[in-house]
Amino acid sequence: PVLVVDYGAQYAQLIARRVREANVYSEIVPHTFTTEQLLAKNPAAIILSGGPSSVYAEGAPSVGADLFEAGVPVFGICYGFQAMANALGGKVAQTGLREYGATEATTVGGGARSILEGTPESQNTWMSHGDSVHEAPAGFEVLATTAGAPVAAFANEEKALYGVQWHPEVKHSTNGQQVLENFLFKGARLEPNWTTGNIVEEQVERIRQQIGDSKVICGLSGGVDSAVAAALVQRAVGDQLTCVFVDHGLLREGEAEQVERDFVAATGVNLYVANEQERFLNALAGVSDPETKRKIIGREFIRAFEEAERAIIAQAAAEGEKIKFLVQGTLYPDVVESGGGEGAANIKSHHNVGGLPEDLQFELVEPLRALFKDEVRAVGAQLGLPQEIVGRQPFPGPGLGIRIVGEVTKERLDLLRKADAIARAELTAAGLDNEVWQMPVVLLADVRSVGVQGDGRTYGHPIVLRPVSSEDAMTADWSRLPYELLARISNRITNEVDGVNRVVLDVTSKPPGTIEWE
Ligand code: XMP
Repeated sequence: PVLVVDYGAQYAQLIARRVREANVYSEIVPHTFTTEQLLAKNPAAIILSGGPSSVYAEGAPSVGADLFEAGVPVFGICYGFQAMANALGGKVAQTGLREYGATEATTVGGGARSILEGTPESQNTWMSHGDSVHEAPAGFEVLATTAGAPVAAFANEEKALYGVQWHPEVKHSTNGQQVLENFLFKGARLEPNWTTGNIVEEQVERIRQQIGDSKVICGLSGGVDSAVAAALVQRAVGDQLTCVFVDHGLLREGEAEQVERDFVAATGVNLYVANEQERFLNALAGVSDPETKRKIIGREFIRAFEEAERAIIAQAAAEGEKIKFLVQGTLYPDVVESGGGEGAANIKSHHNVGGLPEDLQFELVEPLRALFKDEVRAVGAQLGLPQEIVGRQPFPGPGLGIRIVGEVTKERLDLLRKADAIARAELTAAGLDNEVWQMPVVLLADVRSVGVQGDGRTYGHPIVLRPVSSEDAMTADWSRLPYELLARISNRITNEVDGVNRVVLDVTSKPPGTIEWE
């Protein structure tokens, strides 16, 4: 793999994704790894990421000079660039001057033949640094400069060692991907062989080896991760797999059918459906506190899943079989964020609907453990899953249960489902699905306002539209949807959904607002 050494400023994941976008496999490792530990992973190349520190700060992470003698190509970025300069005897100056944001970098010397090949002589780069490199280490050539950084990029071609002061992994660095790919393909001479087709083949092979001829069980939530994980396992072991779909009645219009009909048609999977709509409605009756709703939904989900599980285990036992494995849709960011540990203890922290049972009698199968979300979607498409499933926007595990502000009832769910379906259909028709991260549609069931429809006054509920743009749901901004589109959604909802006489738009960023209303 290409190893991305994480100096702790959230850039490492982005770098790893960019490397994979170039069809090269990459993994993130902590900066506490020694040179020996790094080399033990047999890296094809190493990238040192950005980080928050000054190389002179107390306890600042450093890099061993021996790493640069190991014959492995290395690319230092921002902090990694400075740590590299420092380790190799260059001069890093604490000027007290900061360069932050868009900065123009000018190619000098042989830069245009090195990792800056194919980029303009003067290019936009994204900077965030205090210290700057004033002298390149011996044997290195300066490739670029900026106003604040006399040495903004350098190279030692003979040893395949490179570095840039800016952040090539962020989109604000206009030629960033080109620079990164120059390092990978020209500097390190790697082959672009990490493709969706290869990922599928490799995972299918691994799953077969892990599962052998045992039986395996899998939960489907309607979301992307569980669907793609199940489809991979199905591709690998076919009928040995049984999927469980707990229909809690809190999904949006058409989503249960996507699982029960479209997913099954695309994969041929054995599906066990637990129709539990009544159970969830009964458990939620009279409850309006959001956290209580979440707890109830999580608890009932686990119970329903376990009941389904027992039925499947019993059926297998009747045929003399035992279920040994459980599939989980854990993704690479979950693995990295929980410390990168190995093994079964690493349960997906944010699992849809409050997590699976803890008393794991099963060994876990986690075919998405090495993948980022966009790779999961690509794998799903490669496996022939419907676009509605692989392109699905984030949707909370407790579903519409936390999009009704107030008590959840059958009537309110039906009403919200209608309004939500209209909003989603119009967003799609306007071609704006990709502009919007997600668009919760919320029913304010405890609020009523006066309206007028036809000859009469109405006393109905408002529907809130909450379209947001975001990178990772940690922060978000409200999406500036065209007024025409908002007008169409509003007209249709107030005309077509009985009981709704107002549509309002949420124009709050996160923070201070959250994405969901509950
Ligand atoms: P908030 O509302 O906290 O949401 O800004 C951030 C992201 O998480 C989703 N979300 C949930 N997902 N169970 C989930 O699986 C939950 O209880 C839950 N609450 C919020 C939300 O849709 C957004 O993507």
